Amino acid sequence: MDFKHDPSTDFASVRALSKEDAKNEIEALREGIEYHNYLYYVKGEPRISDAVYDQLLGRLQELETAFPEFDSADSPTRRVGAEPSSKLERVQHHGPMLSLTATRDREEIADFVNRVGESTSAERVTFTTEPKFDGVSIEVVYENGRFKYGATRGDGMTGEDISDTLKTVRSVPLRLQGGNRPPALLAVRGEVFMLKQGFDELNTERMQKGQKPFANPRNATAGLIRQLDSKEAAGRPLDARFYDVLHMEGSLPECHVEVLEQFERWGLKTDTFNAECSSLQQIEERYDALVDQREKLDYEVDGLVIKVAHLQLRESLGVRQRSPRWALAWKFPPRQEVSRITDIVVQVGRTGKLTPVALLEPVDVGGVTISRASLHNEDEIHRKDVRVGDTVKVARAGDVIPEVQSRVAAPEDHREGAFKMPSTCPACGGEVSREGAYH
Ligand code: IVH
Repeated sequence: MDFKHDPSTDFASVRALSKEDAKNEIEALREGIEYHNYLYYVKGEPRISDAVYDQLLGRLQELETAFPEFDSADSPTRRVGAEPSSKLERVQHHGPMLSLTATRDREEIADFVNRVGESTSAERVTFTTEPKFDGVSIEVVYENGRFKYGATRGDGMTGEDISDTLKTVRSVPLRLQGGNRPPALLAVRGEVFMLKQGFDELNTERMQKGQKPFANPRNATAGLIRQLDSKEAAGRPLDARFYDVLHMEGSLPECHVEVLEQFERWGLKTDTFNAECSSLQQIEERYDALVDQREKLDYEVDGLVIKVAHLQLRESLGVRQRSPRWALAWKFPPRQEVSRITDIVVQVGRTGKLTPVALLEPVDVGGVTISRASLHNEDEIHRKDVRVGDTVKVARAGDVIPEVQSRVAAPEDHREGAFKMPSTCPACGGEVSREGAYH
């Protein structure tokens, strides 16, 4: 039985199976399903239809129900979520989960590149550049190639066990791919994040249910990944990338580039934007390229991470105050600009909710022209004390609707009177009532 290469769905009756047969078929199905999962979610090159995939999964579920003695925590059937847990257990990381020194200053990038160059006698220093994913940092542990558990970063030394929700993320392998024997123990670090489109859908859904929308995809990811009921995370468009080894039994390659290549062979998803650079100019080109692509990517990135590629050189550069001296995050400019409110209009949502919206003198915020921004509700307007004619700070948090953040007191502003919600609906003329902070 080889469901990897011959995904036949011509199954024998479960009752006709001996224990031994069932065990073998279960194992072959798990191997096969995870392989096709890898082809689809990691490589983006599926070889079987969704219908066949569902049939394999259905068969596995059927066998696991009939033979509960072969139950396993890393079975692909766990990807739909598990029974809710009562709390998240704390786990100690296999190595400190360090943070990155960040800057927005080109000069500091040049200083970093020079400093690294001066610290070695090597003629050329290689760096890798990677997107800085705006998500939630995770540790995932594999034992003999099988998913053992996953954890949040927490305080860097210990985090929370989020295995159940992580298993619902299809690009987090439940078993590693590749012909070679996987290490007995492998702890990797990566990021889990939400796709922009799914984020918008999730928020629409939440608002329809009367729940508070998430401010940005990162908050949504953090909220879902820490759910005690992992079924809440299942089916959500969460994705992952891997970028570091926290611990590995056996020897590591010499260079981060090879580590990333090994990740790919294992089916640990790496980013297609990752590149090798060996000069400041090349690094700057990658930064500019990522700024250009930023809006087109289907997930949020908030900068470029520059890392020394050679692991030995990393070792000799060391760590300072929990940040490695061998890496630097080059953050993107803030997506906040100043503009003037020309009018405040009221928008009527599908659920009948009224949202005050500021019309603005058009302004470029992080590459996108903004001419309207949400003021959320009447209380917010009064709290921020913003009126027509005011100069205000406008920001895009995540990829949500831009918002007016605060008023910039400008003496030349001709301020109009304070805003008042209309008493009749601008869409249907009906009477407006208030529920909590909303009309
Ligand atoms: S490397 C010591 N690479 O940015 C090096 N971090 O403090 C460990 N992040 O929360 C970090 N994308 O989770 C690295 N390509 C990337 C990253 C990345 C996002 C996050 C990381 C951490 C924060 C930096």
